[in-house]
Amino acid sequence: ESTTELDIGALETGQAVKAVFRKQPVFVRRLTAAEMEAAEAVDADSLRDPQTLADRTQVGHEDVLVVMGVCTHLGCVPLGAAEGENKGEFGGYFCPCHGSHYDTAARIRKGPAPSNLLVPEYTITDTLLVIG
Ligand code: FES
Repeated sequence: ESTTELDIGALETGQAVKAVFRKQPVFVRRLTAAEMEAAEAVDADSLRDPQTLADRTQVGHEDVLVVMGVCTHLGCVPLGAAEGENKGEFGGYFCPCHGSHYDTAARIRKGPAPSNLLVPEYTITDTLLVIG
C-alpha cells in the first residue's frame, strides 16, 4: 500500500495544497479561524452526513483539513482547492458536475452528493503529513 507524504510546515492559514493519494486527488487546507467558526456554528445533527469539524480533523491539528478531492455523487473533482476557484454557497468546495456544495469542513450541504468528502486515514507528526 502506498502512502503520500507532504510537509505542511509552510502551509499558511487559508492556504491549500493539492496532492495525489492512490491516483486520486487530495485537498489539504489550513483553515482560517472564520472557516473553523463557520463549520462549528452548524448543528451537525441537522446535516445529511452528520459530522462535526472535530470528527473530521485530528486533535491538536483542528485547522488542518485533509479530504479526498472526489465528489461523493459521481466522482468529479470539486472546485475550491485552488486560489480563485468557486467554493460554492458554503465556502468550501463546489462540484460543478451536478451542483454539490460542500462547506468549510467539506461536508455536503446542498446538491445531490450523499455524503461528505471523504477524510482519508492520515497522521501528522511535527510538520509531516502522511496519508494512508
Ligand atoms: Fe459531483 Fe455529481 S459528481 S455533483
